[in-house]
Amino acid sequence: MPASVTVVDHPVLAHRVAQLRDRLTDGDTFRQLVSEVSSLLAYEALRDLGTTEMSVDTPVALGAPVQRVAEVVLLVPILRAGLGMVQAIQEVVPLTEVAHVGLRRDDATLRSDVYLNRLPRDLRGRRVIVCDPMLATGGSLIQVCDLVVEHGASEVVALCIIASEPGLHAFGDAHPGVRVWCAAVDAELNEAGFIVPGLGDAGDRLFGPPD
Ligand code: PRP
Repeated sequence: MPASVTVVDHPVLAHRVAQLRDRLTDGDTFRQLVSEVSSLLAYEALRDLGTTEMSVDTPVALGAPVQRVAEVVLLVPILRAGLGMVQAIQEVVPLTEVAHVGLRRDDATLRSDVYLNRLPRDLRGRRVIVCDPMLATGGSLIQVCDLVVEHGASEVVALCIIASEPGLHAFGDAHPGVRVWCAAVDAELNEAGFIVPGLGDAGDRLFGPPD
């Protein structure tokens, strides 16, 4: 496993991943589980978020010292499936902004094309969180991180729910400085490029088939 991967090992996460993997889990429950897992991953991945010292008046004391988040994090969901992670992360992390990037993976070649890029031109000094529930070959995440780095982002992390081992190696070779936080790692991909055992097509399970 590349050094830049953290698999968040926690029973409450494992329980939800088990439900996500289950083919009998219905769409509404699947969406809810993606949200819950995303919150937990973001909570773990953002322990070092910048805070600033402030003071507040509580009902019993004036000027109590407190810390508040000072950093505006940019979330970059990879459409479509990454959209299923955004709202839950925003509910946990204050001060976020969102820049959408859309990629479509060709079923035959397994290569992804960018069909939407709404990244701000200048990301210098910004912390970016790229979100995609699935890291299969790693090609989509590599392409999006290429763009984010080209735009100058200073710190980039990726949140994935399930990653494949070969995909993590490919991603680690391309972006050794980008930490991937995931809830599970599966050993292989099948000939159709699906993570095995995986959870199927996250985009389709969240939103329905596109065609
Ligand atoms: C899936 C998945 C990832 C990508 C992973 O998206 O949601 O974005 O493939 O594959 P990779 O690591 O091999 O690049 P898909 O292209 O099916 O689009 P969708 O999210 O719109 O369904």
